[in-house]
Parts: sequence; C-alpha cells; structure tokens
Amino acid sequence: MESGGPRPAVFVAEGLSKRFGSVVALEGVDLAIYPGEILGLLGDNGAGKSTFVKLASGVYRPSSGRILFEGKPANFHSAADARHAGIETVHQDLGLIDSMSIARNFFLGAELRWGPFLRLARMQAETREILTEIGLQNLRDAGQDVSRLSGGERQAISIGRAVAFQKKMIILDEPTSALSVKETDKVFDYMRKAKDRGLAVVAVMHNLAQIAAVADRFVVFWHGRKTADFANAGQSETDLAQYIHLGALPSVDAH
Ligand SMILES: Nc1ncnc2c1ncn2[C@@H]1O[C@H](COP(=O)(O)OP(=O)(O)OP(=O)(O)O)[C@@H](O)[C@H]1O
Ligand SMILES: [Mg+2]
Repeated sequence: MESGGPRPAVFVAEGLSKRFGSVVALEGVDLAIYPGEILGLLGDNGAGKSTFVKLASGVYRPSSGRILFEGKPANFHSAADARHAGIETVHQDLGLIDSMSIARNFFLGAELRWGPFLRLARMQAETREILTEIGLQNLRDAGQDVSRLSGGERQAISIGRAVAFQKKMIILDEPTSALSVKETDKVFDYMRKAKDRGLAVVAVMHNLAQIAAVADRFVVFWHGRKTADFANAGQSETDLAQYIHLGALPSVDAH
C-alpha cells in the first residue's frame, strides 16, 4: 500500500542558470518535479524552455546552480549520463534512427544479446508486447524501419521505451507540433499512461488548449526566469496567454 504522504520530488533544480557568452538563457531557476505528474512548461519563444530541457537531459552543463535527481546531486556530463540516471528525452523526429527497425530503436543502447549475437527475434517480440500493452496495437511488424511510421507512432515508441525501461522522468519538447489531432490524442494517452505508472512527465507545447488538456501543473518561464508555478485548475487560455506574455497575471487592482 502507498502511504498517504506526499512523494518526494524526483527532480529538483536549484538556482539553475545557463549563459551563452553575454546571453542569459536561464537564470536562477528553482523547480521541483514529482513522480506521477504531467508538468506543462510554458513560455514565449526564447523564454528558456529548451535550455532547461537540455540542462535536465545532460546536453548542456549549468553555468551555475545544480540538479538533484532522486535526492542526489546529478552531475550530468552528457545526454547518456542523464539517460542512464533515468531521464528519457523525446524530440520530435530526432529521437529515433530512421534506418533501423522499430525493435532496434526500442532497444537502442540496451540490446539483448547472446554472446556476440543480437537476439533480434526476442527484441521484436518484446517490443511488440510492450507497445501493445501501452495501446499501440496496430503495429504490424517490429522489424520494419521506423522511417515508415507516422509522427505519433514515433512518439509512442519513445514514450513506450521510457516506460519499458523504467525511466523515472520523461521530457517532451514540442512533441505534438507536427502531429494530426488524432495522433496528438494518442500521444496524450501515452503520456497519461506513463504518469499512471509513476513517471514524471515534462512537456513543452505551444498549443495552450493541448497542454491544458493534459497537464496537472504549469510552470512559466519568462525571459529566462521562472515566474509562476501553479496547479492546472482549468485556467482559461486567455489567462495562460497572459502568463506567457507578461510572466504573471496582471494585477486586478492596478490603476
Ligand atoms: N546555444 C546557444 N547559444 C546562444 N544563445 C542561445 C543558445 N541556446 C539558446 N540561446 C538563447 O537563449 C534564450 C533561450 O532559448 P531557448 O531555446 O531555451 O528558448 P525556448 O523557450 O525553448 O524558445 P522556443 O519556444 O522558441 O523554442 C534565447 O534568447 C536563445 O537565443
Ligand atoms: Mg524551445
């Protein structure tokens, strides 16, 4: 049985900053991310969202501040370090290798082997099993190249991989920007399934109606700073847009 208390944060940023020469991309961001939540990262173009994603996924190193992962200081030197720790990052069109099969992509970096040999049939069977389990039934053949998949199916594979390999956190930077409405709905289903399994899910999306439909909580970045952090309580798109453009809601009693 679960105890009733709040679960500790899986990821904590403390005073996280990133500068590129004189450009301050991110400044003093404190942010805790919890297991079993979908966090929507909001902010205008250039607000620092992708910079945060790249710091969290080990692509960049912070200029100052630090990241704690599962309570311990995480000194990621590379994307591989962050993956190894349990953070899977999904980029539209970037995460998968086109010329490889679905199963090979699924097991990338964690291939099943028998001595020097790849266990292709076993990897295909397991891939099919896991993807079916998360709801991607119409995947005919895990041996086919991923180049033939739709954007939504590709996202599903990345999310499925994070779930199957028991990652702790999954970050999606603009996962649905190139997807149809139907594909987007499917990706949202997978995000909710990942959340139900206790993963922390972080999503960057420009479409406010979409992010509002799936996020439990919002964090707003504005000119590189975190300016708001609030539960999704059905705020209007107009309110969310105000946060994005002004960093916060305008004061109601301003004269
Ligand atoms: N590698 C870099 N070198 C120099 N400046 C950078 C670099 N990466 C980001 N920046 C700058 O840092 C700021 C934040 O950029 P970032 O990509 O994090 O924004 P974003 O919130 O992801 O925007 P968008 O919504 O357009 O994707 C911008 O001013 C950007 O020009
Ligand atoms: Mg970005």
